Amino acid sequence: MLWSTSLPLLGSSLLALATSALAVPQARADKHYAIMDNDWYTAGFVPYLVALDGDVEILGLASDTANSWQPQGALHAVATLEAGNLSCIPVYAGATWPLINTPHRFQAWEMIHGKLPWEGAFAPENKTFEAEGNDPTSGDPNRIVKEAFKEGFPKGRPENSTSAANFMVQMVHKYPGQVSIYSAGALTNVALAVRMDPQFASLAKDLVIMGGYVDLNMLEATGSIMLADYQSDINLMIDPEASKIALTADFPNITIAGNVANQVFPTQEFKEEVLSVPNPYSELFYKYYDLSFPFWDETAAALMVDPSLSINQTSVFLDVDTSYGSPNYGNIHVYQKALAPAGIREVNYVFEVEAEKLKQRIKHALQYPKSCADLA
Ligand SMILES: *[C@@H]1O[C@H](CO)[C@@H](O)[C@H](O)[C@H]1NC(C)=O
Ligand SMILES: *[C@@H]1O[C@H](CO)[C@@H](O)[C@H](O)[C@H]1NC(C)=O
Ligand SMILES: *[C@@H]1O[C@H](CO)[C@@H](O)[C@H](O)[C@H]1NC(C)=O
Ligand SMILES: *[C@@H]1O[C@H](CO)[C@@H](O)[C@H](O)[C@H]1NC(C)=O
Ligand SMILES: *[C@@H]1O[C@H](CO)[C@@H](O)[C@H](O)[C@H]1NC(C)=O
Repeated sequence: MLWSTSLPLLGSSLLALATSALAVPQARADKHYAIMDNDWYTAGFVPYLVALDGDVEILGLASDTANSWQPQGALHAVATLEAGNLSCIPVYAGATWPLINTPHRFQAWEMIHGKLPWEGAFAPENKTFEAEGNDPTSGDPNRIVKEAFKEGFPKGRPENSTSAANFMVQMVHKYPGQVSIYSAGALTNVALAVRMDPQFASLAKDLVIMGGYVDLNMLEATGSIMLADYQSDINLMIDPEASKIALTADFPNITIAGNVANQVFPTQEFKEEVLSVPNPYSELFYKYYDLSFPFWDETAAALMVDPSLSINQTSVFLDVDTSYGSPNYGNIHVYQKALAPAGIREVNYVFEVEAEKLKQRIKHALQYPKSCADLA
């Protein structure tokens, strides 16, 4: 979908001057850039605030279809940026459709292999649920549900000069070895970029994803539905083929925030602490961040900013199951080097992060958010 934008594309040029005192070629050579791809929603701003707070320069946000449809997510990205004067960061609309998956195909798979507690954008359409302020699922992917914009409906629109995948390709050529690709939704855009340009993955700095759970099947069976929900892995399952393309590409490094993303939870007390410094983001976080869910995307963002947050990780060879006939369609499978099949690669699989440090990063990012005035 193409949208017009009321805002000029200031992102990369203004952001490049973020550390103005240091903005000499020498300093820029080790500058850490990122493109953050996600299924954005009302309280989905924390990952990019964590990145900005960690001195990562965000070249742009990209939208994908995972929890809801891409066009709705792109508008949430624009809206949440507007909420904090961050509209100098451009939003590039990604692919609306997974490579081959569709709601119909997914729902047919569920009839054979069992329902997921969280079906993301492929949950059946429910107009009543939407009218209550929830993002759209199934049905027409281009419809916009205004009731879900609790952060305010945006004035601007996503950047329409190019696609998210093409923007990713352009940026890794502009800043080789310096651009992190962060993906906390489906990997569709990343896979498109990989296939579009054979140099794309190797020119990036790394790929950091939220998703990719292992060894949790017994817990899904014996735990509560909520516990099973935590292991749904919708990000990879929405687009299994894209997940495989992205996670087997030759990025210099791939970090998987899978099981670890379920480690640290927000609490009411933490929300109140955050709100003790009021601003649009701490207020939106207080009102709309759901305490039932762990810091999924935030954990992945913090690991992108500061890999030393990880206190237990391992290196494994990783594949994604792309057999539609499998109950693990879209899930990962890991191997040791000696037993790994050809065509897959080593990834950095994180098991545990320093919880306090993660919470401190989130708190600081929310209490003292950067705005375009700081980035200019
Ligand atoms: C893209 O955005 C520009 C500038 O905001 C606008 O003039 C143009 O009509 C848009 N194009 C499409 C196809 O939406
Ligand atoms: C955003 O900018 C406007 C105009 O400069 C200013 O009035 C407002 O306080 C700013 N808001 C934030 C959250 O920085
Ligand atoms: C649709 O959403 C409404 C409101 O949340 C809910 O009560 C109802 O059970 C949902 N319908 C289906 C078929 O899930
Ligand atoms: C990938 O990144 C992690 C975290 O920074 C690091 O521990 C690991 O050694 C890196 N792997 C490679 C192959 O560079
Ligand atoms: C690291 O995590 C793995 C997987 O949960 C666990 O088996 C192992 O005991 C952990 N190691 C340490 C040092 O905590």
